[in-house]
Amino acid sequence: MVNVLVTGGAGFIGSNFVRYALETHPDWHVTTLDKLTYAGRLENLAGILDDPRHRFVRGDIADRDVAAPLVTESEIVLNFAAETHVDRSILDAGAFITTDVYGTFVLLEAARQAPHLKRFVQISTDEVYGSVAEGASRETDELRPRNPYSASKAGADRLAYSYWATYRVPVIITRASNNYGPYQFPEKVIPLFITNAIDGLPLPLYGDGLNVRDWLHVRDHGRALDLLIDRAESGEVYNIGGGNEIRNIDLTRRILQLLGRSETLIRPVPDRPGHDRRYCLDTTRLRSLGWTPAADFADGLAETVAWYENRGDWWRPIKQQDAAFREYYDVQYGRRLAESHKSA
Ligand code: NAD
Ligand code: TYD
Repeated sequence: MVNVLVTGGAGFIGSNFVRYALETHPDWHVTTLDKLTYAGRLENLAGILDDPRHRFVRGDIADRDVAAPLVTESEIVLNFAAETHVDRSILDAGAFITTDVYGTFVLLEAARQAPHLKRFVQISTDEVYGSVAEGASRETDELRPRNPYSASKAGADRLAYSYWATYRVPVIITRASNNYGPYQFPEKVIPLFITNAIDGLPLPLYGDGLNVRDWLHVRDHGRALDLLIDRAESGEVYNIGGGNEIRNIDLTRRILQLLGRSETLIRPVPDRPGHDRRYCLDTTRLRSLGWTPAADFADGLAETVAWYENRGDWWRPIKQQDAAFREYYDVQYGRRLAESHKSA
């Protein structure tokens, strides 16, 4: 058995990865370490919580007493655990520093002493490059993060690298583009807009709606990580991009079309401060190892819309019954939506 530690495995990408890993690696024993913040949900692991090859541990990556023994027993560590939402980082950055930076440090310190460790995958993000007006970011490009989330991820990204350069911890760093797919928390744009549209609520589109993101299906992300665990070179960075660049306004229109809803639901609202205009990744390095994305964006988006249509049991309790989510929604959107009414 190969002992694999997945931190943040009750979140969106982590839970999809844990499910994929158990399906594709009969010789893996996976431990999920997750603090179960607002974004971490045991429901995301439904069907695999009782799998004999899977163990769930509730705990904080920044808590050495919990995290270090789990790292020590592992051959492979994937660090997905993070605070991940840019808008929340703008409202209050503290947890981004304690989890994304300090938590990664705790894991890396434990990794220095881990006797069987072959791979430490630091899950970084394309947002560390900052906004790219034209062309595509390469792994060697300068990092220019522009919001507290991306700055904390850039800190963790370079800290992980330093543990390779200094201590020869077998680190690799992956920088993926925006993910979409099932189990994404409904604060991020795709699930927020799908679920609002289902309920006939306004879709708060920031600024002029012309910002561009490159969308990657969460399963293709998992396939890339799986390949990199095997084939990557320690100390290297790998971009993982879906190659599906689309402007937010066009993405919004597609979601509405798929749901048969009117574009009058689109509500332009005041922009996110420091809103990065565009992300775009050069994925030559990953593709040279044999990876290409399998998901077609039109199909993947349609499947994702259908998943949210069918899984009101998953997202309605979050959006409608969770007081903390309601409070976040009011703080983030209350004034924006009110102002957009005034200007309409
Ligand atoms: P998510 O917010 O859905 O999940 C994060 C998970 O981490 C949750 O389960 C949460 O409970 C857990 N967590 C948070 N703090 C923790 C702590 N201190 N200790 C243990 N667990 C903790 O995020 P996601 O979208 O699945 O992102 C996963 C990773 O991928 C993150 O590192 C993120 O920066 C990176 N990433 C995300 C995207 C994207 O589009 N979502 C793109 C590129 C990279
Ligand atoms: P998001 O899903 O928050 O991901 P990220 O900021 O990490 O790229 O946002 C994706 C894009 O959608 C980004 O350009 C901001 C925009 N957006 C809106 O226009 N309205 C919203 O309510 C949200 C959450 C995002």
